[in-house]
Amino acid sequence: MERTLILIKPDGVQRGLVGPILARFEARGLKIVGLKLMQVPTDLAARHYAEHEGKAFYPGLLRYITSAPVVAMVLEGTNAVTAVRKTVGATKSFEAEAGTIRGDLALEVGRNLVHASDKPETAEREVALWFSDAELIGYARDTDRWIFE
Ligand code: RTP
Ligand code: MG
Repeated sequence: MERTLILIKPDGVQRGLVGPILARFEARGLKIVGLKLMQVPTDLAARHYAEHEGKAFYPGLLRYITSAPVVAMVLEGTNAVTAVRKTVGATKSFEAEAGTIRGDLALEVGRNLVHASDKPETAEREVALWFSDAELIGYARDTDRWIFE
């Protein structure tokens, strides 16, 4: 079972899209094992996006992610990292396929609603960065056997 970090970015919270976005992940069968609303401190944003430091869009990216609260969550499921990235869609929202969150709900790269870990190693690092062990709850759902083979 794989875990992955998802952020509903400030534009998602401001636009009232927390419910619709969360619903897509739940409907796919992913299990919520961590969930919280938070105002992101700049040092956390910088650590999260360290790989982009030095790029032209980096300062704007930090301003964006710290501009208003985000909803952070950890989702669990088989191949969760890949499945969530597919559901989120391409980084440049205007190129994202219809049917994806970005393809249906967003237009711009700098207002692309959602962050999702890009590979399992990144997911492990990001889950540990955003959530303490006590904030993550492993549990069984009665529907698990109808979702997981
Ligand atoms: P994320 O990390 O937020 O899930 O997005 P991603 O993997 O699809 O894209 P990534 O390459 O990691 O970029 C992180 C975020 O930086 C902003 N960005 N702006 N102006 C630009 O060219 C540009 N490129 C990236 C986006 O908000 C992107 O989600
Ligand atoms: Mg990324």
